[in-house]
Amino acid sequence: EKAGHRHFMGKEIHEQPQTLSGVLSRYIEGDRIVLPTDYDFSATDRIQMVACGTAQIACSVAKYWFEALARLPAEVDIASEYRYREGPVGIDTTALFVSQSGETADTLAALRYARGKARAILSVVNVVESSIARDSDIIYPIHAGVEVGVASTKAFVNQLAVLLCLAIAAGVQRGEIDAQREAELVAGLKLLPGLMSQGLTIEERCEALASRLSEASDILFLGRGPMYPMAHEGALKLKEISYIHAEAYASGELKHGPIALVDRTLPVVVFAPMDPLFEKTVSNMQEVMAREGQVLLVTDADGAKQASDGVWEVLVMPRIDPVFAPILYALPAQLLAYHTAVHKGTDVDQPRNLAKSVTVE
Ligand code: M6R
Repeated sequence: EKAGHRHFMGKEIHEQPQTLSGVLSRYIEGDRIVLPTDYDFSATDRIQMVACGTAQIACSVAKYWFEALARLPAEVDIASEYRYREGPVGIDTTALFVSQSGETADTLAALRYARGKARAILSVVNVVESSIARDSDIIYPIHAGVEVGVASTKAFVNQLAVLLCLAIAAGVQRGEIDAQREAELVAGLKLLPGLMSQGLTIEERCEALASRLSEASDILFLGRGPMYPMAHEGALKLKEISYIHAEAYASGELKHGPIALVDRTLPVVVFAPMDPLFEKTVSNMQEVMAREGQVLLVTDADGAKQASDGVWEVLVMPRIDPVFAPILYALPAQLLAYHTAVHKGTDVDQPRNLAKSVTVE
């Protein structure tokens, strides 16, 4: 049932080109985004996204998409904070809950807090026969299939894909995306599964880097823009399955504190696809190198050409339109953690102290 893989997590990482293509086929018709259930994003003045763990990281990426593509103010909350904060939920607010299992206790409680206050309760779930799905006005399924590994991989990628489709649909409805731009975005989405397959070829390099990473006691992940939440994803995956302490920082925050940690023993993973923020991220990366930090740069061929000097290692990803880069860059986040954990010999599919579905507070 692991289809020739050593772990379910390895199998699920490799399934992603197919599972991504599967979910996209449910949200795309021709060169348009067609949601399985309509929702009017032009009649809402903000979106509040609430989730736990990796699902919350997917929301943090989606914040950039909703704001940039649809000019829709977006907030992201950790469910365990949102449920007790007694924050205002305006009648024009759309509340959106993201959960693979649909059973996470804090997310469900947060949903019940928003019920009756928000304009509508939307949820992005994998398990459609779940408590969160049942309590929602509209569900947007992610069609990832059963995910066995405790560390979420294909569900995370499909959460991102559905959230991006929602953001594009919102942009169209709100007059921010015209038909031509929508067609371009849809064309970009259709390229993604192929790029994910190509991206999987970094696996050998990740395996080769695992012995060095597994010696580290701490690892820092840096990124800007939507790569900042992706840095969180890299750090979370690594902590969960390899038990190595990892932290994520927005590159621009480095000099406000964490740069004090940098010395020659600290691996620093930098997510920097070629995008308008590339040079800013690279200048932060150079500050790390000036303090002998061991930089692992994750970029594309253009980025590698411009910024490889003096870095410890480079992982070269396929070139990609920056809008879609977070989906592709889930791969290095997953593969670095996976191979480091395999090298350490930890229980990859059932890491200590963790459960697949957290149904208690
Ligand atoms: O089932 P959910 O999506 O609500 O689960 C939320 C988190 O528990 C989950 O994403 C967790 O962080 C994963 N183990 C991350 O890989």
